[in-house]
Amino acid sequence: QIVSDYCVQVRELGYRLQELISESLGLEKDYIKKVLGEQGQHMAVNYYPPCPQPELTYGLPGHTDPNALTILLQDLQVAGLQVLKDGKWLAVNPQPNAFVINIGDQLQALSNGTYKSVWHRAIVNTDKPRMSVASFLCPYDHALISPAKPLTQHGCGAVYRDFTYAEYYSKFWGRNLDQEHCLELFKN
Ligand code: OGA
Ligand code: NI
Repeated sequence: QIVSDYCVQVRELGYRLQELISESLGLEKDYIKKVLGEQGQHMAVNYYPPCPQPELTYGLPGHTDPNALTILLQDLQVAGLQVLKDGKWLAVNPQPNAFVINIGDQLQALSNGTYKSVWHRAIVNTDKPRMSVASFLCPYDHALISPAKPLTQHGCGAVYRDFTYAEYYSKFWGRNLDQEHCLELFKN
């Protein structure tokens, strides 16, 4: 019951964020939700055991989230999340009563690169285990992801070609995980 309530609430929050992101781009409030259709929702409960030599490994190597929007609940006791900013890894320390929101690759494409799908990773601790709960909102398989027309009319035009989420997803898992950003493969 608690987990199912959590999932419902997180979904609502995700929808509200998608509405606000649409509006911030000068699009109709429902624009993103309409494009993504009946969104899939996945939850990952990540457990990072302690490691005596944390510098030799990662809990989760650097990546961007391939979906639309991620809502992450962090362990308040143990830090571990880092984001890449200006070529440096910065710690994102847990804050009480706060979620970390990650823009995923699909919102980067839809926004024609205005919103960035951030590179992030998780490191492990010497003595304490860490947990995090990630909720991923994903477009439905046949959603056609395409830079929003009003955003391609001035300047550089559409940065990315049109693709379906299913196509993106199979490319994402079909490539080597240490390769460049998957979105690069969809550039015009
Ligand atoms: C993920 C993720 C980070 C964390 O599951 O995609 O980035 O802090 N998790 O566990
Ligand atoms: Ni992630």
